[in-house]
Formats: sequence, structure tokens, C-alpha cells
Amino acid sequence: RVVYVNGEYVPYAQASVHVEDRGFQFADGVYEVCEILDGNLVDERRHMARLERSLSELRIDEPMSLRSLGVILRETVRRNRVRNGIVYLQITRGVARRDFAFPSPGDAPGVVCFARSLSRKAGDAKAAVGVAVITLPDIRWKRVDIKTTGLLAQSLARQAAREAGAYEAWLVDEKGYVTEGASCNAWILTGDGKLVTRSAESGILRGITREVAMETARARGLHYEERPFTVEEAKSAREAFQTSASGLVMPVVKIDGVAIGNGKPGEIASGLRAAYHGVAE
Ligand code: PDD
Repeated sequence: RVVYVNGEYVPYAQASVHVEDRGFQFADGVYEVCEILDGNLVDERRHMARLERSLSELRIDEPMSLRSLGVILRETVRRNRVRNGIVYLQITRGVARRDFAFPSPGDAPGVVCFARSLSRKAGDAKAAVGVAVITLPDIRWKRVDIKTTGLLAQSLARQAAREAGAYEAWLVDEKGYVTEGASCNAWILTGDGKLVTRSAESGILRGITREVAMETARARGLHYEERPFTVEEAKSAREAFQTSASGLVMPVVKIDGVAIGNGKPGEIASGLRAAYHGVAE
């Protein structure tokens, strides 16, 4: 395996960054995770557009053109012979003597990229039975619209989920509304057949898979609402599911131990998952 680090492809075991990289000390960096399907990047343009926005919100210089970053993504996938999996791209503000304020302009951002194979079969098998989630208070900072590498709250939440025997944690704001999962967007299908997912105006990352799923829903004549929903509403929903580039559309069959619907993956969720790749249902 090789990893792209600041201009070079190096063996995985030798890939390293400097101790004063601001990504390491301050989580002063952003990232994207893009799905690889049959050797191709899925929704690449949208991921790159979001990356550009994340960089600009943090005033990190673009290290190179989006087109050049795209070349790195594809080259990393190619060199690692990944057919199905994910590619990870991270850009930090780079190496500078430790100081909370930004280093002087002109210091080069740090760029890291790696690709990893993921079994599609395993993902589909998981989706066929659905996953359990727990709910936890959302203790993240308020700029969750930026895809930063500051993921400690998400890591704590995922660990708590794991220890509870669940797959993911859905995070809940101070008013009792679900924001999103630790690394995915959260959805429900109401009793009267409406898809509901929180608006990207507040409390969540604007997920690419979420947007594509919304477009698919629209194309299929499904009604959806972008509004917050409570944990109670989710528990009594007909279906629940979550979306992310690594998990795609993943049916949720249990929330805090309560079975959703009939306790099996819902029809709508499974249909959206199948549609994600244009696969015939
Ligand atoms: N996570 N919300 C959060 C907090 C996320 O971290 C992610 C993605 C999403 C879904 O976004 P998208 O559909 O664009 O992947 C929502 C990635 C997969 C990760 O951190 O591994």
C-alpha cells in the first residue's frame, strides 16, 4: 500500500507527518471521504465542492487546483488497486511553530491521501439485516457544517455505541432533536409515508449521500421534509436509516433498544440503497 503525503507516494509504513503539523496539534484541517465503486470515484465533484467550502470557511489556502487534487485521489486509488472502498483526502494548515493564531501566509498546507478497500458484500449483508443505533447528547462544536478533522466528540460517541453493542450513535441537540449520526446523516419515514431529515441549515454536515438520496426520493415521487425530528418521533417511525459515503444508505432497525417498524430494514430505505448505484431492485 502507498499513501500520498505532501507531494510523494510513500509506503504505508513510512508515511508520516511532522509533529508541528497543525492538523496534529489543533485539528486544524479538513477532509473528505469519497466512495470508490468499481474503481471509480462516486460523487467526486460534489465532494470536491464541499472540500473547497470547508477550506474557505477555515481560511486554509487551497494547496492546488481541485483538478490536481482529483488527480491525486485517482492516482492513490489506482496505485493501491482499490476497486471498491473509500479514498480519504485531508488538508491541514500545515507545519508551523505552535501558536494558536494562524502561521504567516505562504506556509504550505499539508496534504495526505490514502485509499482502502471495503467489502461491498459485507456492507450489503449488514444493510440486509439493518443496524442498531443509540442516542447521545450532541457535544460537538457549533461549526459542524465544516468537515474538519476535529472528530473527538464523534469518536467518543462511536465508542459508546460500540460498547452498547450498537453500530452508530445518533446525536441529539439540547431541545431533544436528532442532529445526525457520529459520521452520517439521520433519516426517518413517518407513519404517513414522508421522509424526514434535518435541514442542512443547522446542526449537521451537508452530506453528499444525503443530497443524492434526496434527489433519488424526489425522482421517485417520494415526499420528504427537511425538518428536525425528536428521538421519540424516530422511535415510533415506520422506518429509519442513515446515509454516508462509507455506509451508503444503511437501514436502522433499533434505536436505544426500541425496534423500528417491524424491526426489519424498511422498503423505502432498501429501495434508496439499491437506487444509489442505479442497481435494479
Ligand atoms: N462521514 N455527518 C457527519 C458528521 C459525517 O462525518 C459524515 C461523513 C456525514 C455524511 O456525509 P457524506 O454522505 O458526504 O459522506 C454526515 C465520513 C464518511 C467519515 O467521516 O468517514
